[in-house]
Amino acid sequence: MSDILEKYDGQRVLVTGGAGFIGSHLVEKLLDLGARVSVIDTMLCGNKIEHLEGHKNLSIHRLDVTDIQAIEPLFEGQDMVFHLAAVVGVEETQDEPVNLLNVEVGGTSNVISLTAKNKVKRFIFASSSEVYGDSLKPMVEEGPFNPKSTYALTKLMGEHFCQAYYQKYGLEYAALRYFNVYGPRQDDRFVLSRFVSRALKGEEIRVYGDGNQTRDFTFIDDSARMSLLTGVTDGGVNQVLNFGTGRDVSINYLADLVLTRLNLSGKVNIRHVDYDHRRTREIEVFNRVANVDKAEKLLKYRPLTVLSDGLDKYITWYKGGA
Ligand SMILES: NC(=O)c1ccc[n+]([C@@H]2O[C@H](COP(=O)([O-])OP(=O)(O)OC[C@H]3O[C@@H](n4cnc5c(N)ncnc54)[C@H](O)[C@@H]3O)[C@@H](O)[C@H]2O)c1
Repeated sequence: MSDILEKYDGQRVLVTGGAGFIGSHLVEKLLDLGARVSVIDTMLCGNKIEHLEGHKNLSIHRLDVTDIQAIEPLFEGQDMVFHLAAVVGVEETQDEPVNLLNVEVGGTSNVISLTAKNKVKRFIFASSSEVYGDSLKPMVEEGPFNPKSTYALTKLMGEHFCQAYYQKYGLEYAALRYFNVYGPRQDDRFVLSRFVSRALKGEEIRVYGDGNQTRDFTFIDDSARMSLLTGVTDGGVNQVLNFGTGRDVSINYLADLVLTRLNLSGKVNIRHVDYDHRRTREIEVFNRVANVDKAEKLLKYRPLTVLSDGLDKYITWYKGGA
């Protein structure tokens, strides 16, 4: 049976942040589908597409999205732009607030303006469930919004850029509110990957607060497929979409699950620690789970991977397997 994503064959796609975790999976899948891919990334967080270097349909540009002159030539002739470049990670976004604003606001403004100027057909923006803060459960796209951090605010701003450019220039967009994506290649700035790496090193797992805070973990293959669907189907056009699973688990549950799947229960400690100056209670979101009805209806897709299976795949990758 043919797959709708085959429409990417021959398409020219620009991916900012394409050497990062989510970006690397998009780039890999786009190349498999026959797209011609250009990547813009500073690679300050490493290069997760090293294995793809030399691919005939891939060009990689070690550039900064805040440098509009440098990135401008890359937008000509593109069919769509995925904008993922961002300062990511709870600590990282708090440590350098000015850089955060430069990249998420200035960089996003550069990327979307060049996308419109070059009459690229569609702009896909990586937003975040952070925009909701502590809000209704499950979170629905219409809000309410209680952004608790500068990062969350800049993501809301990026969504407003999308709506403004659509109204002014007719630039088609999709804004993707990712909920805790995880999977192979993720580094340990993120909770699930950090738990696995600490446990395998025999280090205690640290849980902030009481551990009852909840998250909606989405496996990368599901997130990548949904992201790619927004590029080539009409369902998600000019929409903001929740990209989660609709199922939440507590961080305590996650910690136990990680140890169980690693056969390390009772051998590695789980310790509850207080929030501190790098990880403040003020920006913690206590409950987070997506209402996924809209994305499912418009994209005709719902995440398939359950957390225990996705975690096993992550562990296999981490240990050096496929
Ligand atoms: N991973 C998640 O669970 C999650 C959740 C919500 C939203 N998001 C969003 O999805 C996108 C991708 O996240 P990720 O998890 O792959 O993070 P990541 O850090 O692995 O990828 C981001 C990439 O952007 C690059 N980058 C940063 N600043 C740049 C700049 N000034 N110019 C060019 N490149 C720059 C980094 O080098 C990195 O490769 C981000 O926009 C993030 O905010 C991710």
